[in-house]
Amino acid sequence: MYEKEYLMLPGPTPVPPRVLRTLSQPLINHRGPQFKELLEEVTAGVKRIYQTKNDVFIFPSSGTGGLEAAVVNFLSPGDKVLALSIGAFGDRFAKIAQIYGCAVDKVEFAWGTAVDPALVAAKLTADQGREYKAILVTHNETSTGVVNDIQAVSAARGDHPALIMVDAVSGLGVMDLKTDAWGLDVVVTAAQKAFMIPPGLSFVAVSPRAWEAFATATLPKFYWDLGQAKEYYAIGQTLVTPALPQINALRETLKIFAAKSLDQLFARQAYLRDITRAGVKGLGLKLLVPEEIASATVTAVCVPEGINIKQLMQKLREEYNVVLAGGQQKLAAKIFRIGHLGYIQHLDILAVIGALEMSLKELGFPVVLGQGVKAAQEVIMVRKGLL
Ligand SMILES: Cc1ncc(COP(=O)(O)O)c(C=O)c1O
Repeated sequence: MYEKEYLMLPGPTPVPPRVLRTLSQPLINHRGPQFKELLEEVTAGVKRIYQTKNDVFIFPSSGTGGLEAAVVNFLSPGDKVLALSIGAFGDRFAKIAQIYGCAVDKVEFAWGTAVDPALVAAKLTADQGREYKAILVTHNETSTGVVNDIQAVSAARGDHPALIMVDAVSGLGVMDLKTDAWGLDVVVTAAQKAFMIPPGLSFVAVSPRAWEAFATATLPKFYWDLGQAKEYYAIGQTLVTPALPQINALRETLKIFAAKSLDQLFARQAYLRDITRAGVKGLGLKLLVPEEIASATVTAVCVPEGINIKQLMQKLREEYNVVLAGGQQKLAAKIFRIGHLGYIQHLDILAVIGALEMSLKELGFPVVLGQGVKAAQEVIMVRKGLL
């Protein structure tokens, strides 16, 4: 039997039906005028979300490809890089730079905490020889549900010439990230999170300062060569065959976004976060991270004592059609994650909290049925001015 599934992951996210429908459009010539128009339209729409006038390029790849593009285009072997890691994706960005032969100085913050900008300032002030060429940082750390204060990290850079490269794969478009106003040099994101389209596109924004670094960077590149990308963009094309269905889908998502201000988009997402956090707390579970650094797209929940995470995820999936994400790496057995971005709404969260209550009760955790749902409902009622 076909039943609705609650895909509550921090990506890929459920896709709105009007966006899904675009995937059946016939393909077009990617070297023709129709594609040129399409590419120009979506690039302008994506720039609005990036809050930038910088160049933005769209690649047929997942988000990790975009991170690799950031490294290979602006750095050279042996370049000193300050990698700030608060979780699995911060580690990944650092690893890419390491693999390409950069001298990575990785600063690790405990999982579940955010980057401390004071420490970044101290590192950069101590770098009298101005050796750091780049600072790698994650906007929204999906593995822990923590959002970094990128504006503060950028301010901590002061007049140090290091480029700031931001992995904004799971945050751009749903939480504020002012590429230009905050002086961010390379910002990477991907399709399957805020943009609510099937995986297969990454986006890379490049500042004028980053272009200067590009001119002397010597890491090898072909597929990711942004110099070639720029030349092709100038004639309304891409170097390689673009992912046409995803770009059609992107056009549709951007129309949805265009109907709202960025502040409205961010406020909606924060509202979904607040409902989720209230529901989780209401049913008696602990949240991994405090309010001030809580991601608006994914909420990490501590697995209570005595509960087997695999059993819980299986029960939710098989008996309630609720798909949540487990923990990653060192948090694998300790947390599970509720994704609340993409084509979801407040009532989906009530359903998930309700399913969690029933599953946990059956597994022996002391839950009073309805308590979590009630707490989540109260956030909705307060918002409606009814409480
Ligand atoms: C913050 C962050 N960075 C990078 C990635 C990697 O993206 P992809 O799986 O699209 O390569 C993800 C994916 O979840 C992510 O959340």
